[in-house]
Amino acid sequence: MTAPALPTVRLPDGTMVPALGQGTWHMGESPAQAGAEAQALRQGIERGLTLIDTAEMYGNGGAERVVGQAIAGDRDRVFLVSKVLPTNASRAGTIAACEASLKRLGTDRIDLYLLHWPGSHPVAETVGAFERLREAGKILRWGVSNFDLAEMAEVAALPGGAACATDQVLYHPDSRGIEFDLLPWCRARGMPVMAYSPLGQAGRLLRSRALGAVAARHGASPAQVALAWSLRGGGVIAIPKASRPAHVAENVAAAALVLSAADVAEIDAAHPAPRRKQALGML
Ligand SMILES: NC(=O)c1ccc[n+]([C@@H]2O[C@H](COP(=O)([O-])OP(=O)(O)OC[C@H]3O[C@@H](n4cnc5c(N)ncnc54)[C@H](OP(=O)(O)O)[C@@H]3O)[C@@H](O)[C@H]2O)c1
Repeated sequence: MTAPALPTVRLPDGTMVPALGQGTWHMGESPAQAGAEAQALRQGIERGLTLIDTAEMYGNGGAERVVGQAIAGDRDRVFLVSKVLPTNASRAGTIAACEASLKRLGTDRIDLYLLHWPGSHPVAETVGAFERLREAGKILRWGVSNFDLAEMAEVAALPGGAACATDQVLYHPDSRGIEFDLLPWCRARGMPVMAYSPLGQAGRLLRSRALGAVAARHGASPAQVALAWSLRGGGVIAIPKASRPAHVAENVAAAALVLSAADVAEIDAAHPAPRRKQALGML
């Protein structure tokens, strides 16, 4: 089966990636589930969800092993994102963490390597290590996660800081503070943000009456509306996590859902856009 083309997003170096990918938090925590999780990721890859987000933190390396299983023999089709923990993000620690991630992933390169959140090691040191890894071909590009605007400005001012490819942040209708300042700042620089927990971790958000009403009009699910909402303005890559095949299929189909102005207004009324600066939401 030929997968329908997904919308794409341009990275600052010109690389095009799908606007919808797959998250992996909580995968690799139970050996009994690992096979099914890898199978769900494979199903997503087959249908075009070729961008996979993971981290050394998830399942204590277990999620990277699941990803390694899912991409074995098919590495070139996949755009791999992983993250170094802030506690490991010294110059030498970042390089060692990356080597360990590469082993677990069963690959020789990570397409996009992120600092998971700001920590105590100076970000200039971490970026220096990222640049060394890039020169060695072990990562193809780098970025950050959970950085608010002031921290992004600090990164941008570093030597080589303009190469930062993304900021991965919490973004869904109940957590949209980035629309006030961070998202426009990134868009102005041609830097996409990666929206994490775009389904609000399948909690209260998916019971929203507004999302439910919009979903009913489109014959869609609230989860699909949440994904379409996150992609509505461009410059955003959403990375829902799904380990159930039915969820993967639903999420792929969400890429084809286009919300009308009336749909967006109805969601705005129930989940208002920020009117002032808000501290960056984080999980
Ligand atoms: N950088 C960071 O600090 C950070 C923080 C959090 C997350 N992330 C990344 O972002 C990814 C996504 O965030 P998340 O995992 O926190 O939450 P999420 O993607 O918002 O929600 C995941 C939950 O939604 C369920 N789900 C998936 N598709 C669904 C559908 N179509 N309908 C109903 N439920 C559905 C999943 O169930 P099943 O698994 O049972 O299918 C799972 O319980 C993570 O996996 C991780 O890769 C990054």
